[in-house]
Amino acid sequence: MGEGLLKGKKGVIFGALNEKSIAWQVALKAWEQGAGLILTNSPVALRLGKLQDLAKITGSQVIPADATKMDEIENLLSESMNIFGGKFDFILHSIGMSPNVRKDIPYERTSYENMLKTFDISALSFHRVLQTAYKLDAIKEWGSVVALSYVAAQRTLSGYNDMGDAKALLESIARSFGYIYGRDRKVRVNTVSQSPTATTAGSGIHGFDSLIDFSERMSPLGNATADECADYCVALFSDLTRKVTMQNLFHDGGFSSMGMSLKAIEQYQKSFDECDCDDK
Ligand SMILES: NC(=O)c1ccc[n+]([C@@H]2O[C@H](COP(=O)([O-])OP(=O)(O)OC[C@H]3O[C@@H](n4cnc5c(N)ncnc54)[C@H](O)[C@@H]3O)[C@@H](O)[C@H]2O)c1
Repeated sequence: MGEGLLKGKKGVIFGALNEKSIAWQVALKAWEQGAGLILTNSPVALRLGKLQDLAKITGSQVIPADATKMDEIENLLSESMNIFGGKFDFILHSIGMSPNVRKDIPYERTSYENMLKTFDISALSFHRVLQTAYKLDAIKEWGSVVALSYVAAQRTLSGYNDMGDAKALLESIARSFGYIYGRDRKVRVNTVSQSPTATTAGSGIHGFDSLIDFSERMSPLGNATADECADYCVALFSDLTRKVTMQNLFHDGGFSSMGMSLKAIEQYQKSFDECDCDDK
């Protein structure tokens, strides 16, 4: 990618926990492309993760904020405006957590307390960020807000649990707020639907290794890495994508458009040749 694509731009990045985090890679690429950053994560993630290391590399300030707490988000965005000296250009929402996924509680046996927590952290937090940014008029005209999603919003993938519902809500919020933010302030709002990626959140999903292997084999271009996702996010923060808004953009090597690949047909056929089953 050309150098300086984000020269002079400033943005807030949510959700970098460690080097594996998609947000970590986005922060690095945005910084390499000339952006000034403020990094944020929940207070507990700041204690357990390595965000200060990223802050050192990118020369950024860190402001803690639990994305489920309105006052903390408001403090983060108004502090960011103070530090940046006014409105800024972009926000990355890279936040996801499901107590059900974490504790391996199946979808059909959730408690609604767990489910509400999943939605609160993984989807409503996006509405909170947008509502607060809109209220403070924190984002410049032609600014860009991106949240990370997954194809489980459209298709059922075993093991993804209530995160599929959370992602469907997240993508819907991008459309609903994208309309208002575009109409009133010319700000873009999109979601990027990323391939399965070996991060702390990703690896918590039941059967994740098989999921990542399956989509790698099924996608004509193979899975997209966190590093490649970061390139796409940088493009969406840049002025090259000024009329892209209210979209869920698949960044998955083609997986979301596949039904059956040649490799999968051959493997499927082979499974019957080798088995002792009636369906032969
Ligand atoms: N890894 C994958 O396979 C994959 C695929 C598609 C989309 N995504 C999405 O990408 C995003 C980033 O996840 P990741 O894979 O980089 O994993 P990650 O574990 O590195 O990042 C998840 C982040 O969410 C933060 N978070 C959790 N609760 C929070 C709260 N209350 N307030 C503020 N932050 C909170 C965590 O501290 C962490 O930094 C998530 O939305 C995830 O669903 C991941």
